[in-house]
Parts: sequence; C-alpha cells; structure tokens
Amino acid sequence: MKDLFGGAAPYYAKYRTRYADPAIEHLAATFGADSVVLDLGCGPGTVAIPLAARVREVLAVDPEAEMLAEGRRLAGRAANIRWLRGDSRTLRELPAFGHVVMGRSFHWMDRRAVLAELDGLLPPGGVVALVGPPRRVAEEPWEPAMRRVRDEFEVNTFTAANTYQATGVHYEEVLAGSPFGVLDRVRYEQRHTYGLEAVIGLQLSYSYTAPARLGDRLPAFTEAARRELLALNPAGTWELVSVTEVLTARRPPRSP
Ligand SMILES: C[S@@+](CC[C@H](N)C(=O)[O-])C[C@H]1O[C@@H](n2cnc3c(N)ncnc32)[C@H](O)[C@@H]1O
Repeated sequence: MKDLFGGAAPYYAKYRTRYADPAIEHLAATFGADSVVLDLGCGPGTVAIPLAARVREVLAVDPEAEMLAEGRRLAGRAANIRWLRGDSRTLRELPAFGHVVMGRSFHWMDRRAVLAELDGLLPPGGVVALVGPPRRVAEEPWEPAMRRVRDEFEVNTFTAANTYQATGVHYEEVLAGSPFGVLDRVRYEQRHTYGLEAVIGLQLSYSYTAPARLGDRLPAFTEAARRELLALNPAGTWELVSVTEVLTARRPPRSP
C-alpha cells in the first residue's frame, strides 16, 4: 500500500484528465446539495474539489500523504473538504457520510469487501458512485511509443490487484452482485489537446511509471519518452476525446 504513487501527485493533478463538469453535476444532483459525501481514493481531489462546491461536505480519503497534500494545496480556501489519511480498510474510523464516490480508485480495493462494509455504514438511500473511463477505452494515440519505452525500462503497466485484467471480473459485475445492485450509467465526452510535455507528465502520474518507481532512471525515462514520442509524431501534439462514465449503484427498493 505504501508509495504506490510516490512522487506522482503533482503530475497527477496537472496532467490527468479532469472529469467533465456535467459528470460532476450529475454526481451532485444524485447526492443532493445537503449531503456529506465520502470520496474514497480521492487522490489530489479530482472529484472532491469540484464536488465540494455543490454539496454540504466532502470527506476526502486517501492512503497517500502526497496526494492529500496536493489536494489540500489545490483546494485553497474550500472549507467543506476534510482531507483524511485512510483507505478502504479503515472506513469505520471515519465520521458519518451519506454517499460514496470512487474516482478511478475502486480497482485498488478489495471490491467485494468494501461494498459489504459500505452496506453496514451507508443510510438506506445511500448511493455508491464510480467515476472514470468506461470499460472499453480506445488506446491513447501515443501508446505505441510509450509501450516501447516501458519495454525498454522493463516496467509493467498493471500494479493494481483488483482490475479486470487481474481478476477477470468487471466492476459492474461486482456491483450488480452486491447489496448495491441497482445500476445506472451516464457517459460524457470531452475533447483535449495534449502537447509533448503533457504526454510525458501523464506517464509520471501513473503508479507503474511514477517518479519513485523509476528512481534515478527518471531523466533517462523522460528522455526516451521524448525521443519515441517525437519519432511517432514530429508535431508533438495530439488531439483526443476522453469519455467519463458515472456509474451509480443503489440498494433495491424494499418491498412493502
Ligand atoms: C488513480 S488515483 C484516483 C484519484 C482520483 N480519485 C481521481 O479520480 O482522479 C487512485 C487513488 O486511490 C488510492 N488508493 C489506493 N489504494 C486504496 C485503497 N485501498 N483505499 C482507498 N484508496 C486507495 C491511491 O492512493 C490513489 O490516490
């Protein structure tokens, strides 16, 4: 659990795709303006910060101190976010909350265990929401170049234990089989332009190529990335459309 994203937090905050505003608005409308929401695996506040402007309070929880520090810095004066060190195994230690959101973080957790735990903690109308890329995503246009670099540096892409790739079970299946089996899905598209520095910065935001993982090979890695990316596309600019999926999960209504 320690240092999964060592040194990645500033790159994460700067270069990872922000979620489309309508996705955040959909979450806020689902939870309600008076709600207290747990953002579990909050990272540098990608969801917590924009969501806090639309709900009563956000409990922003992450095991990584560097991520929490970056979030605190970015949140500035927002007074209704509590940044708390913790993880999916320490939910009982948290103040009470009414709903939960997990942005690109569910795959880091023992998914069934966390849903069972949430069933004990959430009130009757409590919603569990997952935010992130959809199940099938097109490969990013720079991937062929970055794959060559990762091969050269012998870094594997998957470090999370509970991804579909690792378990053969998709998150929807886990949710559908949980106490929160009533699912609803909405998708939002955004256009982005990435320059060379942004594509390299993005690589340093991933757990598997985070600065701490590369150690003293970091300068050589970024140099190799620059070389391969420019060989792939001498203009050094990429256009792409990202898709954010918001999947909400509720308990089935009780029969009278
Ligand atoms: C890819 S980042 C997502 C950050 C942010 N929620 C977003 O949507 O961009 C995944 C985060 O999950 C955190 N994490 C890893 N294991 C966790 C666990 N067992 N419980 C809670 N969070 C965890 C990591 O520290 C990291 O900050």
